[in-house]
Amino acid sequence: MKIILDSVDIVQIQKWAYFIDGVTTNPTLLAKNGSDPLTRIKEILALLPGKDVSVEVTELEPDAMYAQAHKIAKLGSNVLVKIPCHKDYYPVIARLVNDGIKLNITLVFSLFQALSMCKLGVVYISPFIGRLDDHDIDGSELLFQLRGTIDAYNYKTQILAASIRSVLHVHEALLAGVDAITMPVKVLELAAEHQLTDQGIATFNADWQKLGISKFP
Ligand code: G3P
Repeated sequence: MKIILDSVDIVQIQKWAYFIDGVTTNPTLLAKNGSDPLTRIKEILALLPGKDVSVEVTELEPDAMYAQAHKIAKLGSNVLVKIPCHKDYYPVIARLVNDGIKLNITLVFSLFQALSMCKLGVVYISPFIGRLDDHDIDGSELLFQLRGTIDAYNYKTQILAASIRSVLHVHEALLAGVDAITMPVKVLELAAEHQLTDQGIATFNADWQKLGISKFP
């Protein structure tokens, strides 16, 4: 099970580099960040040698997207190119897979979209859980359906749960048995915390201090 950071925050990526299995980026995250996107991607790659770094295409016209995907892939051997799961791009996706380019197919919202991408042989599919929930569709349920069907068809494509907004999403994605979860820093920090752990540490420490021992062991 891989934990991916859905972030372009270099300080946070550096902080979590020992723990995470990679980073996902997208045009919105890069635009909000404000720094030059290419420079930022190179900084992230330098921090995560050998770990998955997903970089999304920005071209919308299929031939331009194909050429851009090749350029993005050349940024590093650990780069995965993110392509939106739109039927107009299926031929581009098929060509890129044939070229040996590692793809992470983004904006996946249905079983058919997902299985179609598995059939084309991409490395990752990224179902967007939070955005399904936004539309009153159970995003986590899709993860369970994907796990069952991908295994039944014996496809090798990995499920990367995305658009994760809460610790509950993380919990459900783990239960569904996804291969990877990408989450914002805030969700990762919340998922790693528990108030009972904090309380337990405080109680153990208070009890220990009552002994007045200065050296142990
Ligand atoms: O991993 C995809 C993510 O960046 C999108 O999340 O919250 O904008 O749907 P969200």
